Amino acid sequence: MADNILYVDACVNRSTSRTERLAQALLARLKAQGDANVTTLILEDAPIAPLSGDDVNRRFELAHAGAFDDDLFSMAKQMSQADTMVIAAPYWDLSFPSKLKVYLEHLCAQGVTFRYSEQGVPTSLCRGKRLYYVTTSGGYVGDLDFGYQQVKALFTLFFGFERAECFRAEGLDIITNDEEAIMAEALAGIESAQLD
Ligand SMILES: Cc1cc2nc3c(=O)[nH]c(=O)nc-3n(C[C@H](O)[C@H](O)[C@H](O)COP(=O)(O)O)c2cc1C
Repeated sequence: MADNILYVDACVNRSTSRTERLAQALLARLKAQGDANVTTLILEDAPIAPLSGDDVNRRFELAHAGAFDDDLFSMAKQMSQADTMVIAAPYWDLSFPSKLKVYLEHLCAQGVTFRYSEQGVPTSLCRGKRLYYVTTSGGYVGDLDFGYQQVKALFTLFFGFERAECFRAEGLDIITNDEEAIMAEALAGIESAQLD
């Protein structure tokens, strides 16, 4: 069966994004592996807003009623059907651009992407198993990798993904660095990575 890949593009700079360049190389490799359907979601264009108090209350009531046809669940339903997730996001302010946080709010829909077990443990309702996170940064990230850590924790602990991997290029905005050499190294890493 075809691998259902959902590519979530959280790159804000739509014309010269280095993160997007790495993500496209990864997608090319995933497609070359065999039968794959890639759905692209560009968050800059996505009609999603931060959840308001009304949204949160309505979502809870709809979930209680089992009324999952509402648009409030559309992002969550789409993600729950993906086998493989590719998320591309530049490193902004120690994490990622805010639209990705908005997207994550929409994904965490009880009854669609996860449920709580009787013991109160989040249990996945998603079919996905592989998460790839692609990022670039102006400086060096070190231990302050809050963006990937948050996404990885959500996808593994709530959405049941078994494998999470991050591809990155760092130090791209340091003017004494050779930006193209850093990108070439990151692209070579993607080319040689074991993806299964
Ligand atoms: C709003 C904003 C916040 C940023 N925050 C950081 C940061 O906290 N640390 C860092 O190393 N680089 C930071 N950068 C630099 C970006 O991580 C870097 O330019 C990245 O490669 C951008 O990705 P892109 O080429 O895909 O747009 C920031 C850039 C912007 C525009």
